[in-house]
Amino acid sequence: MTTQIKVSPSILSADMAQLGHDLERIANADYIHIDVMDGHFVQNLTFGTGIVKACKSASNIPLDVHLMVTNPDSTVDWYIDAGADLITVHVEASTHLHRTITHIKERGCKAGAVLNPGTPVNVLEDIIDELDMVLLMSVNPGFGGQKFIPRVLEKLRQLRKMCIEHGANPEIEIDGGVSVANAGQLAAAGATVFVAGSAVFGADDPAAAVDAIRAAGKRGCAQQDA
Ligand code: DX5
Ligand code: ZN
Repeated sequence: MTTQIKVSPSILSADMAQLGHDLERIANADYIHIDVMDGHFVQNLTFGTGIVKACKSASNIPLDVHLMVTNPDSTVDWYIDAGADLITVHVEASTHLHRTITHIKERGCKAGAVLNPGTPVNVLEDIIDELDMVLLMSVNPGFGGQKFIPRVLEKLRQLRKMCIEHGANPEIEIDGGVSVANAGQLAAAGATVFVAGSAVFGADDPAAAVDAIRAAGKRGCAQQDA
């Protein structure tokens, strides 16, 4: 079986004064990653539904909305209505994770769970079968441009083992400090979707950076399969 490798550029590192132009520069991306931060769950305060709507009208690429908010239950419908194709919520912020995931899916949107670097993979044991995606943070959430935390490689392997044991096949996304330099080893450990902010929008040619990360991921995946 060939694993599909996807790249999800994070617009946290885009130029908000010319967002439409920056989206055109990543027309080859598989998702657009939108980091919603509420100033409570994380210090930073970023985007709301207005930016999700703006991305929806400017691009046909599926929107990957990463909610870094306390109590996602109270606002998740806003993001679905705004055009999110996939929503991920932090297990650390969700009191009723199963209910939230079920609700998102019932509304016709894909649903995923996110783990901070300090949260173990085994908390997903009883919900893994329900998830369209698992997002493992490889930095502490809140800011772009942080240093990759290598411990996540072992977490990816543990997650892959759990998925095999359950016969589950969620997309495995990795977020934080991802670049062409580490995409191969991340894919070899089990990552299938690569969020990249500074590595894409900080590049002279963002589309070429997307292609390079995807190619590095595919090479890593082949090593794992071999
Ligand atoms: C961090 C965000 C990331 C961020 C990644 O809290 O969730 O999506 O944009 O930025 P880079 O790729 O620069 O580490
Ligand atoms: Zn993110």
